[in-house]
Amino acid sequence: MSKSPKSGAPRGRNAQSKKGGVRKDNGPKRSFAPKRDGRDSRSGNKEAAPVARSQSPRREQPRTAPTPIVVEPIVREHKPTSARFKTPASVLPVMVEMDGWDDYALLDMGHGQKLERYGRYTLIRPEAQAMGAPRLPEIEWKRADAIFTGDMEEEGPGRWKFTKQVDEIWQMKYGPATFNGQFMSFRHVGVFPEQAAHWDWVGEQIKKADRSLKVLNLFGYTGLASLLPAALGAQVTHVDASKKAIGWARENQELSGLGDKPIRWICDDAMKFVEREVRRGSTYDGIILDPPKFGRGPNGEVWDFFESVPNMLACVRKLLSPNAQFLLMSSYAIRASFLASHELMRECLDGLPGTLESGELAIREHNGPRMLSTSLFSRWSAPDNNKAKGA
Ligand SMILES: C[S@@+](CC[C@H](N)C(=O)[O-])C[C@H]1O[C@@H](n2cnc3c(N)ncnc32)[C@H](O)[C@@H]1O
Repeated sequence: MSKSPKSGAPRGRNAQSKKGGVRKDNGPKRSFAPKRDGRDSRSGNKEAAPVARSQSPRREQPRTAPTPIVVEPIVREHKPTSARFKTPASVLPVMVEMDGWDDYALLDMGHGQKLERYGRYTLIRPEAQAMGAPRLPEIEWKRADAIFTGDMEEEGPGRWKFTKQVDEIWQMKYGPATFNGQFMSFRHVGVFPEQAAHWDWVGEQIKKADRSLKVLNLFGYTGLASLLPAALGAQVTHVDASKKAIGWARENQELSGLGDKPIRWICDDAMKFVEREVRRGSTYDGIILDPPKFGRGPNGEVWDFFESVPNMLACVRKLLSPNAQFLLMSSYAIRASFLASHELMRECLDGLPGTLESGELAIREHNGPRMLSTSLFSRWSAPDNNKAKGA
């Protein structure tokens, strides 16, 4: 698939470094890059960071006052919840560990960076949580194929520097899914490997239900959390605001040989989509939400985790079918706590049986004792006897 590297001036995010560069290939060219709005967010389809305007002294301000920004108040129904929730049963804190797999390993971490292997490439990326010292000798770090340099802030802007020739696109596998990796702006390569622990959990829920489930995957990105349930017989609806991310996910579907599986690919604002589904009376047996901290819908609709998640969960609750099997929400908004996410989810699921677990999702270091916290989660699963009630 790959061609020899092109010589010439470096370009864009795949610019060649002095020592190495990106090998272009004839594969699909995509420019999907999470857009940025200036706030930190994990792949929340961010616009390019706005150029900071210098603070002009008052006297220099134009005479015509700028149009005031009208902030619509968020009106929430004041409905006191019962002091004690009836159900589901709470289990917390839960530490979910992802140990890595053939195409992913957390090799080392320390001094604000992590050394990871994604398929055939070893990468160094900034990692605010890696506060200790690296375990491996420096020579191991020097062998890395690419280093993301730049803003140390989570999701901050920066660029990839290549120490060797690398392909622009390379393939990796997880179970029945084959997917493309690509060096993206904002340090991503098209997969959040820690999510593998959740993909497995969703798989267990699907197997436990022992029937064909209707699954909704919101903020679905490059589609792994859609492809893996589809491979297990689920009918999946995948929603993402980015056309390019959906294109990438569809390529992953073809690469995986899952082209015949029933997946509806929908480019929409997740909030608008769920509100519309509620009005239509649609239901789903399993719902996955992996929202960014901040993102935008295709028409500029704003997703802000802290502002939007209560209404999102209220709608999601209405979309759960009477014999729903699971609901899973990740949160990379670390300013939240898993307890906050747990209590919100518990409030929304009041009246349901089953179990609600919340905690942190962490990656276990390869051949090492340490774990790296990546995100928070809350996940609800129906009681085992739900299977009997299935269609
Ligand atoms: C963090 S990624 C999801 C990661 C993915 N679930 C996985 O584990 O591989 C966030 C995704 O949310 C999408 N997004 C951001 N704002 C959105 C919105 N308002 N509606 C729908 N999708 C949105 C982005 O395009 C991006 O693909």
